[in-house]
This record gives sequence, structure tokens and C-alpha cells, in this order.
Amino acid sequence: MNFEIIGTGRAVPPRKVTNDALARELDTSDEWIRSHTGIGSRYIAGEEIANSDLSAAAAKQALSMAEPALTPEDAAMTIDLVIVATVTGDHLGCPSAACIVQDKLGAKKAAAMDLAAGCTGFIYALETAAGLLMMNNQRKRALVIGCEVLSKFIDWKDRATCVLFGDGAGAVILEKTEDSTVGNGTNDTGNTGDISGSGVKNGLLQSVLYADGSGGDHLIIRKGGSRNPFKAGETLEKGIHIEMNGQAVYNFAVKAVTETIAGLIAAEGISVNDIKKIIPHQANARIIQAAAKRLKIPEDKFYMNIEEYANTSAASIPIALDELNRKGELQYGDLIMTVGFGAGLTYGGNIIRWSIKK
Ligand code: ACO
Repeated sequence: MNFEIIGTGRAVPPRKVTNDALARELDTSDEWIRSHTGIGSRYIAGEEIANSDLSAAAAKQALSMAEPALTPEDAAMTIDLVIVATVTGDHLGCPSAACIVQDKLGAKKAAAMDLAAGCTGFIYALETAAGLLMMNNQRKRALVIGCEVLSKFIDWKDRATCVLFGDGAGAVILEKTEDSTVGNGTNDTGNTGDISGSGVKNGLLQSVLYADGSGGDHLIIRKGGSRNPFKAGETLEKGIHIEMNGQAVYNFAVKAVTETIAGLIAAEGISVNDIKKIIPHQANARIIQAAAKRLKIPEDKFYMNIEEYANTSAASIPIALDELNRKGELQYGDLIMTVGFGAGLTYGGNIIRWSIKK
């Protein structure tokens, strides 16, 4: 049994905000932001744009890639499951962003739910989708989305956090297939977990998922949940916003990337040389440079697009996947790796054998 990506898509809001534009409102500079993070700009949602708008737009692209001959409505009817990885749904989880997306697409036969694992959300969601497809013969296809609209949960006066984030969504269609089709039928890694008995596996091969809840305070939205709800008549000094201990998250992130790559390589029984591209969560270019140095992996093996999008949290990996795919930089049969880390704290990664034929 394989879980293959058969379509990808992405969406960002129309408004692009450069570092220079931020520096006109805030005590910061393009030079500081670029040199400390690698960020040059970000896309910011206007008042009229919520999570499900970006999620549905990315999903439509992925659906039309997977089913170019079908109408959008018919393509949506091929979906059995919608998962939106996010911590910034349209509402406080009720209803989920996934249910709103399901309705917007007309994916009437799909189950739908959100998944909260911070910036690692898409990695968790891929593994969750594969598990749910595997458990039921009636389920064949999942729409897996990573979407975040963190600009609405930021203290825009706090230069240490507001310059880091951008909004966006990325989506993939994950399809369950019975037969593997890559290569000559021999298992070239020796440990691809092939359970169909047909040789080389395609699609999602391996995931490692980790959490360390003791670090939850380092990246937190304190207000609005059941621990500290908004009360009638209360006046907030600031909007509900994310707080971050930058140094602690930085140290955690370098360790998380290092541990995840080592964990995936060991679990799959391969060498890093077998991997064509590593697609890391785009939080800070310096985190990736430090991890690459520690692991002695050439920096150019890591795909980076943080310069344009900034940190889009759960969306950053599927946005990068779609970019690479549409640029033609992924070939059928390539092994790729995702690596993420984020609020929770959570971290983890996937190994995927690329299965979209050009
Ligand atoms: N512009 C100008 N100066 C700034 C800015 C800014 N935007 N932000 C902070 N500074 C100042 C600080 O006030 C401080 O000034 P001081 O020395 O006078 O006190 C100085 O720059 C250095 O501040 P640090 O916090 O030590 O800067 P650092 O080099 O650690 O970089 C950063 C901060 C970029 C946040 C870094 O800690 C980091 O990348 N942490 C990882 C966290 C991360 O990537 N989070 C993203 C979200 S989490 C996730 O996706 C998992």
C-alpha cells in the first residue's frame, strides 16, 4: 500500500509587505531582518481573508493538478478526508477550518478536521492522513493542507516577533494506491516498509513525530483559550497575540532539525546522499545553516524560500513543496525529506518518494 502525493497547490494573500515597509512603521531595518533571519518580505491577509479562504484556494490548485479533466466540483467529490494543519483557524476550533473548507469545495463525502501541531502541523497531518486512509477501504484520497494566518495573532508593536511571520496555505492530495511503480521492483533502500510485497514503495515512506510539551511556554498564545478566556467587558491592552522566547526557540530548533534528520535517516536505513532535497520549515535561515553545519550537509541540499514568504508556520513546507513541484525541480522517483519544528513544542519529518510524473 502506498500513499502518494498526486497534486500540490499554494495560496498567499495579495498584499506583499517588504522589510522596508515594516521599517517605516517600526524601529527595525531591512538589514537587521535579513541578517538575523533571511527574510525579505511576507504576505499579509487583509480583514476579509481568513484561513479557509487561503486553504480552499490552495486546495483547488492541488485538485486541478490531480484531476485536470474533472470540473472543480467533481474533483472535490473524489476526496474522502480533509485535514487542515493550523493554529489559526477561522474560529477558535468551532467549527474547524477543515469543515469550512470541505463546504467551500463541495467535498461532500469527506470527513474533515483540523490538526494543531504548530509549525510541524503539515508533517503530522501527512502521517495522520495516511493512517486514516489505511484504516478504511472506503477512503482513498485525502486533502492535506497547512495554512496559517498568524498576522492576525501578532503584536505588531513587538519588533522581535512581528517581522518573522507571513500568511499562506499549501495543499497536497494524498492518494492510497495498491501497487508501487518506481524502479525495477527491487527495494533499493532495504527498509522502505513495503507492505504490499511489490518492491519499491512510492509516496510517504517514513515519518518521525516528536513532542516536548515542557517547552510550551516558549511559543504561546496565552489569551483566548479555556485557560485564560476572553471575558465580557474585559479590555485588552493588546490584541490576542503570539509570544516567543526567541533564543530558546532558536536553540530548540537547531537541535530539532539535527535530531529529526538523524532519526529519519536511521528509521529508513538510508544515507543523506540518497535524499535529493530537504524541505525544512522556514523559520529562520540561520537555524538551517547551523543545523547543516552540525550535520555536515551542504546548505544547498535544503530548499529555502523564506526570503519571499517569511515564516508561514504550518504552511511553509507545503508551500515549498508546491514551488519545487511547479518549478520542475522534483522528478518522479526522487527521495525528499521534510523537517519541521514549532509550537508545542513539536518537531518531526517525513521521507517521501516523489510520485508525480511530468
Ligand atoms: N529589528 C531590529 N532589532 C531587533 C529586532 C528587529 N526586528 N528584533 C530584535 N531586535 C534587537 C533586540 O531588541 C536586541 O537588542 P538589544 O541587544 O539592544 O537588546 C537585539 O536585536 C538582539 O536581539 P536577540 O533577540 O538576541 O536577537 P537574535 O539574534 O537572537 O535574533 C530571532 C532574534 C531572529 C528571533 C532569533 O532568536 C530566532 O530566530 N529565534 C528562533 C525563533 C524563530 O525562528 N521563531 C519563528 C517562529 S517559531 C517557529 O516557527 C518554530
